[in-house]
Amino acid sequence: MTSEPPADWMTRELSRRAAAGLLRRRSVAEVGGRINLASNDYLGLARDPRLTEGAAMAARAWGGGATASPLICGLLPIHAELERRLADLKRCASAMVFSSGYAANLGLVASLAGRGDIVFADRLAHASLLDGARLSGSRLVRFRHNDAGHLEELLIRHEGAARRVVVTESVFSMDGDLAPLRDLHAVARRHGAMLVVDEAHATGVYGPGGAGRTVELGIAGEDVVAMGTLSKALGSQGGYVAGTERLTEWLTQSARSYLYSTALCPAAAGAALSALDVLAAEPDRPERLRRRALEFRDRLSSGRVPVPAGDSPIVPLVIGEARGAAEFASRLEAAGVLAVAIRPPTVPPGTSRVRLSVSLAVERERLMEAADRIAAEWRRWRS
Ligand SMILES: Cc1ncc(COP(=O)(O)O)c(C=O)c1O
Repeated sequence: MTSEPPADWMTRELSRRAAAGLLRRRSVAEVGGRINLASNDYLGLARDPRLTEGAAMAARAWGGGATASPLICGLLPIHAELERRLADLKRCASAMVFSSGYAANLGLVASLAGRGDIVFADRLAHASLLDGARLSGSRLVRFRHNDAGHLEELLIRHEGAARRVVVTESVFSMDGDLAPLRDLHAVARRHGAMLVVDEAHATGVYGPGGAGRTVELGIAGEDVVAMGTLSKALGSQGGYVAGTERLTEWLTQSARSYLYSTALCPAAAGAALSALDVLAAEPDRPERLRRRALEFRDRLSSGRVPVPAGDSPIVPLVIGEARGAAEFASRLEAAGVLAVAIRPPTVPPGTSRVRLSVSLAVERERLMEAADRIAAEWRRWRS
């Protein structure tokens, strides 16, 4: 039997996705005069002159690229400085910088578990955490979203596994809700499991000076690993893992996404260092963001938009079907608000949504104007 030509199966698959309203499009972002509620630049730092200058200085000092993977000759003094600063931020002994948050999760989870082990993941955990579990060759078991009781049941049921690793996000990327980290930590500890906390959307947003929720709740320690990205509130690019010296030593032996990939671009390291400087100089910036997010949520609510409780800058408008979410995002775009439809497999079927994110890059008045326009479109949509 001859195999089906790629032109045939790709065309068939693409048509199938288009028919289900699930076709993804790559289009160059054109904000134009629209109000941008689609980025993860929560603190409004990506275009801050202090960051662009930090990036330019690092590029001038260290070049356009790191030239090699960290264990060859790519680990530069600027990376070492960034790792020290991140370790301090996370109140940990050590930190390790990866070329992206995705790479950090891939390398981290695949290093903590292997064949015969089990990774327990929140049902809504990010793709990069799940991909790390898959790469590890361990078994992946999902617990109900934010349900520490269900996690405990599963840990008891799988008592026999050699190593057990629990993975969750601390602020969920598509829902903006917070994980019950204290409960998850207590359960994991009771059963001798390690807890990996993805702080991608908490870094720069929660905790003292934006240190994240592991610091805010005081759960850093031997059995907790925090990871995060430099690419969201910190306005740069790259990812990090923070924990003990022993953990860094272990990742140096085993994290394939670290070992077999060129080290983080110096300009990204420079921009991230500048972002940490801004956070140190303006420690109230995360709180200002959360206050702004609360105001935005309140304004939507008073416009009769159903908004989940919370103060994170991520606000999901759950629509249900994929086509509906895409249609509502187009309507918002026509009304001058840039927001993206999020559809399966990024979110579970039947929960397609438009994800709104608050950024300090958008002035308060413009943000409130956006809330009013969204509310008007929502009421028209629902009527
Ligand atoms: C929860 C979570 N973890 C990890 C990542 C990956 O981070 P990065 O974009 O830096 O690769 C993202 C971003 O998409 C995320 O939302």
